[in-house]
Amino acid sequence: MKTEKPKGTRDFTPEDMESRRHVEKEITDVFERYGFRQIRTPSFEHAELFEIKSGEEITTHMYAFKDKKDRTLCLRPEETAPVCRMFAETLRTRPRPLKLYYFDPMFRYEEPQKGRYREFWQMGLELIGPPGPESDAEVISIAYESLKRIGLSSALEIGHLGIIKGFLEDRKIPEDTQRKILACIDKKDTEGLKKLSTEKTLFELIGLAGGKEVLGKAEKHLKNCDRSMKALSELGEIISILDLLGIGYLINLGIARGLEYYTGMVFEMRVQGLGAQNQICGGGRYDNLIGLFSGISVPAVGFAFGFDRVVEAAQFQKIKTPVRGIDVVVAPVSPDVKKEALKIAATLRKDYVVLFDLMNRKLGKVLEYAAETNARYVVIVGSKDLAEGCVTLRDMKSGVQKTVKIEDIGGALR
Ligand code: HAM
Repeated sequence: MKTEKPKGTRDFTPEDMESRRHVEKEITDVFERYGFRQIRTPSFEHAELFEIKSGEEITTHMYAFKDKKDRTLCLRPEETAPVCRMFAETLRTRPRPLKLYYFDPMFRYEEPQKGRYREFWQMGLELIGPPGPESDAEVISIAYESLKRIGLSSALEIGHLGIIKGFLEDRKIPEDTQRKILACIDKKDTEGLKKLSTEKTLFELIGLAGGKEVLGKAEKHLKNCDRSMKALSELGEIISILDLLGIGYLINLGIARGLEYYTGMVFEMRVQGLGAQNQICGGGRYDNLIGLFSGISVPAVGFAFGFDRVVEAAQFQKIKTPVRGIDVVVAPVSPDVKKEALKIAATLRKDYVVLFDLMNRKLGKVLEYAAETNARYVVIVGSKDLAEGCVTLRDMKSGVQKTVKIEDIGGALR
């Protein structure tokens, strides 16, 4: 029997889970302060859901399979398309804006490497309903604030797909070629791009990166192109809100994103220390995706953190996770005091993390165990002390022992 875990999956130890739950708690708290509420969609969906608009980058890496009725299903590779499906199926009558977040495992059949897994977690949110730059800016600021909350420094890059798309439309480039061009831009495949377009302006546009001056430079190339000019002014509005909020950014018109559903602002966040897979967050505006599933046009914007990468970056940047350690180990020294010791453990557990020695070990062994697990105290329950309503309390750090009344143990542990 094969006992190894499948390639690209991981086991998480109690220590791993402690760090992960800390990050989860902090980030979801930020999400919830903006009024986002958690949802969950199925782990598998009809493969078609992703084939419609998620793009080749996703569809070539799907875990797709046939079920017993010959339906083609797949493990969810991302959750934006499922959220839009869920909106169309069950949430379309809710008041808008609808603010939804998720924290779920995703599955992509990619070649595993540092920071890239076949099963990985995304913590993401989708803001459904509002079309304007304020909502784009809100979403970006939530991503920024989330990382700030856990003390992680990162670099934020913002672009707008309307700029390039408008330019390509203006040049009457067929939609299929546009898609291929955007895929090359996303993969930074300059040679591939040269085969699809010889437009010097296109290469100049996607090479523009920097501060606000980028907008002026782009404008010079786009004077007669209405859609691009509108996109450029939207991007200007978004960054002026970010300026107001004190959020640092780099404008990068070469961001294309691997997913095909984006229509407007797009953004990515990167951190140091993760090697090639240093993108910890990606998102943007997708105003047509919900319309494809529901028939009604509803604009939306969102992002997802690669949760594993966030946790790994926090470890790399030496950010400490508060650990809830063991406060007390309760050790009955003989079988006749066990019941009393159990009662003491139950009372202390209302306020503390309490282990009751379940291994029937001699006191010396219990003390060894307490030291190894970094327990703060051991409550030694012996018949002589008990006869006087007391126990012996050992401070594991100093090794000092004292006799304490049973009703005073709780106070003595503070
Ligand atoms: P994405 O860029 O494909 O976007 O994924 C979001 C994040 O998931 C990435 O930035 C990365 O950190 C993480 N990620 C992707 N693949 C892997 C992997 N194999 N192993 C570990 N982490 C990975 C989306 O999925 C969009 N649904 C985001 C979005 C939400 N856009 C709008 N709303």
